[in-house]
Amino acid sequence: MPTIQPDEPPSELPEVEAGRLPDRYRDRMQDQFLARALPRLRPGVRILDVGAGRAPTLAPKTRPTGCWYVGTDRSAEELDAAPPGAYDETIVSDVTEPFPRADRFDLVLSWQVLEHVGDVGDALRQMGECVVPGGLLLVQTSGSRAVFSVASRMMPHRARVFAMERLLGVPAEEKFPTTRQPKTEASLRAALTGFSSVDVLPFYRGAAYFRFSRALQRLYVVYEDWAAADRRPDLATHYLVAATR
Ligand SMILES: C[S@@+](CC[C@H](N)C(=O)[O-])C[C@H]1O[C@@H](n2cnc3c(N)ncnc32)[C@H](O)[C@@H]1O
Repeated sequence: MPTIQPDEPPSELPEVEAGRLPDRYRDRMQDQFLARALPRLRPGVRILDVGAGRAPTLAPKTRPTGCWYVGTDRSAEELDAAPPGAYDETIVSDVTEPFPRADRFDLVLSWQVLEHVGDVGDALRQMGECVVPGGLLLVQTSGSRAVFSVASRMMPHRARVFAMERLLGVPAEEKFPTTRQPKTEASLRAALTGFSSVDVLPFYRGAAYFRFSRALQRLYVVYEDWAAADRRPDLATHYLVAATR
């Protein structure tokens, strides 16, 4: 199933309407990503989806005519698990290493991959190399100082998978080991060199990780409200990077 379904309703909306989550949970983070991708979705656009694995970021129905959509991942097994028609082409490659082809793309996408890579700076540099002049790099990642990221680094990977399955109902095959690499607003900006413009949008959206306990979730939201109101972008839970080459 593609990661961004344009018509899917925001999953946290009922909780916002019940007064359990603040208003910033009303919209989907996916829609901010999609809003930046849409102007680039012109006929014949060439798109590279990095760390695409079993779920392409953009659904085939959102791609324009003549679009060439390449999925790349370091795991051939993950790419093979994608549904038929997910990609026009797949390439097995590690994003921290030079892209194995001379092709360049109008739009390079990556959804929730940076938290799993060995070196975020290398990954952003290599993704940037794949973008044509004037093209766009769009990356969504979790923040390394988010409470759930800190907690997950303190657990062995197996314990994390177990907790995610038992407490949050996330299937084990969707959990990949995370790395300790910093991902904050400051570190992402510092790594994004060689672009004509860089926009890093912080989100404060970690409540889903505490949905197994209402009391804990309430406490967490108080903390997150403070981080959001006090504009502490290095404590954000997620970032959307939009960088034009
Ligand atoms: C959480 S999944 C996200 C998959 C997909 N982007 C999505 O939206 O569902 C992370 C993916 O990143 C891939 N990955 C992890 N490290 C990578 C690397 N260094 N280079 C390329 N892909 C990598 C994993 O194999 C996995 O498919």
